[in-house]
Amino acid sequence: MGKFNIALDGPAGAGKSTVARLVAKELDFVYVDTGAMYRAITWKILSEGIPLSDTEKIAQTAARTHIVIKPGPLGQTVELDGTDVTERIRSTEINQHVSHVAAIPRVREVLVHLQKQMASSKGVVMDGRDIGTSVLPDAEVKVYLTASARRRAERRFQELTEPGMTLEELERDIERRDQLDRERKVSPLRQAEDAILLDSTDMSLEQVVHAVLDLCRMKTEWR
Ligand code: DC
Repeated sequence: MGKFNIALDGPAGAGKSTVARLVAKELDFVYVDTGAMYRAITWKILSEGIPLSDTEKIAQTAARTHIVIKPGPLGQTVELDGTDVTERIRSTEINQHVSHVAAIPRVREVLVHLQKQMASSKGVVMDGRDIGTSVLPDAEVKVYLTASARRRAERRFQELTEPGMTLEELERDIERRDQLDRERKVSPLRQAEDAILLDSTDMSLEQVVHAVLDLCRMKTEWR
């Protein structure tokens, strides 16, 4: 079987990373979480005390940052300039600021270039917001995974290790991020014309994974 690429896009909390990881495992493909790359840059900006309004400095910082994504115990390990930042990039502080950093065109240029390189040999399941529309427009399989904001908040709530936010606060945070991601000028979150829409509001994780694998069978030679 020849290798192919899968682009998996959708709003925050739709379950993309879990689905992408399981699909990649089933196919023996590489999973690339592009959100983690935007998170890593955001972590560096915040830890260096660069003001979020200084887009020039942020763009320069992104251009000289070395990000490596590799398989690890949590699915993948994210290294930034040689430091493992896998867990640090999941903080509430990063959640609050990452959409602003991801909206800066030159940050996107740097990361999109890297993402295209990562997928150039095929055999990649890449999740994000603009994979089917801009990073891998020629991906053989494209999925747009969504669910209601309430359902996505409920799933995030169940994953919380310490009760820092109520369900209502989580839902508002999710809606705020959706809005920022959809309304930004460069590569906003939207469904590619040739992507298949999967609404997972009333689907189990297994059902979603099966649906993506069925799509792979339909669109490629994989059996
Ligand atoms: O998937 P996530 O929640 O880890 O993504 C973090 C942020 O990065 C989110 O606000 C949207 C942004 N992002 C993006 O703009 N483009 C991508 N390909 C992936 C994520």
